[in-house]
Amino acid sequence: MQKVFDTYGEYYDIFYSDKDYEKECDFIEKIFKSCSAKPVKSILDAGCGTGGHSILLARRGYKVSGIDASRVMINRARGKSKGHNTGLTFQVSDIRKFDLQKRFDACISMFAVLDYVTETDDILKALGNIRRHLRPSSIFTFDFWNGLAVLRILPSDRVKIIEKGRKRVIRTVHPEMDALHHICKSHYHVLETQGGKILNEFKETHVVRYFFPQEIAHYLDDAGFELVKFCPFLSLNGRVDENEWNVMAIARARG
Ligand SMILES: C[S@@+](CC[C@H](N)C(=O)[O-])C[C@H]1O[C@@H](n2cnc3c(N)ncnc32)[C@H](O)[C@@H]1O
Repeated sequence: MQKVFDTYGEYYDIFYSDKDYEKECDFIEKIFKSCSAKPVKSILDAGCGTGGHSILLARRGYKVSGIDASRVMINRARGKSKGHNTGLTFQVSDIRKFDLQKRFDACISMFAVLDYVTETDDILKALGNIRRHLRPSSIFTFDFWNGLAVLRILPSDRVKIIEKGRKRVIRTVHPEMDALHHICKSHYHVLETQGGKILNEFKETHVVRYFFPQEIAHYLDDAGFELVKFCPFLSLNGRVDENEWNVMAIARARG
């Protein structure tokens, strides 16, 4: 697997300090309430990162197991949750080959986790594993880069500057498309400075795959899921078309 979220992982919570995890958890709970036939008590967070959703959902009373391939991300999640949550565990595991020996009422996989699984065989393995960890009729929901929008809008160079006290973190990203394989390579360059001095500098390339909704529907079916619906990210009743870059898939485990 590509080695990402190591150095990048050290800066992850700085890069995404403007991400509204409370609002995203409201959306996840809305999905559970409107699409799950039974109350959700236990959640698998597949690709939990630094625990943004896991920790908040555990605080809201769910039993949450977070797994992630990056030790750096899991260590951060453990550090952030220390002393705060019961019913919350974090483990370094790859979604393509994990076995927690238990089943959950729901699985979430948020912020493009599936896009990092770029080979079709691996996607099928990851979805199959997730299915094995769910009880019949459990909900599985995740967001993905929508190929319809990616090819129409096309990724572009971007710069993000985050001020952190006297420090400044500048992240630039240069995308490189490989449309034949539904791949975008995001070449990140990060500079941390203070008073004009460079404190740290690194580069990291994230290879992500974008998916077409009908492709996802097919993979879900193959892995033992029934598609409930696609919707735009954070808009349960919205319409998915070529303008929606981030699309949410909601599926139910057949059983
Ligand atoms: C953009 S981050 C999202 C993290 C978190 N879900 C959030 O919303 O903040 C993508 C995460 O997917 C994880 N990931 C990528 N491929 C993975 C795999 N095969 N197995 C487990 N985790 C994976 C990365 O380590 C990273 O933490």
